[in-house]
Amino acid sequence: ATERTFSIIKPDATKRNLTGKINALIEDAGLRIVAQKRIQMTREQAETFYGVHKERPFFGELIDSIISGPVVVQVLEGEGAIAKYRAVMGATNPASADPGTIRKEFAVSIGENSVHGSDAPETAAIEIPQFFSGNEIVG
Ligand code: CMP
Repeated sequence: ATERTFSIIKPDATKRNLTGKINALIEDAGLRIVAQKRIQMTREQAETFYGVHKERPFFGELIDSIISGPVVVQVLEGEGAIAKYRAVMGATNPASADPGTIRKEFAVSIGENSVHGSDAPETAAIEIPQFFSGNEIVG
């Protein structure tokens, strides 16, 4: 079925001017960028977004990292978009990511792993409205 997933191009990537190269891999995989904006996330937005990781030892580092510079938030649409984008991203740890994936090509470390993508339809449904209103998504 046609799905939507939520994507973040993270500060490590925007700082290195990689937005276009990452978008090219997204589009080459057959995903459509149906919403996109470049923002500076606030600490409050970041803590809400990553709330499920609150008890993790790396939570502080994760928040500092995602607010360390601009991010590009996106909604991607396509057949099986959630799984498809996770395949394009590659493994969370770039050291384990397959060749040709965004994280293998561009990511620096598990913390600076260039992109985020929703892990399930329920997650996408929570994540998308945190950054986009309905009329900002144009399929
Ligand atoms: P993301 O898909 O954005 O979801 C949570 C993020 O936590 C993950 O990508 C990683 O960037 C980050 N993360 C996961 N494990 C670690 C870790 N061990 N140390 C630092 N950051 C981590």
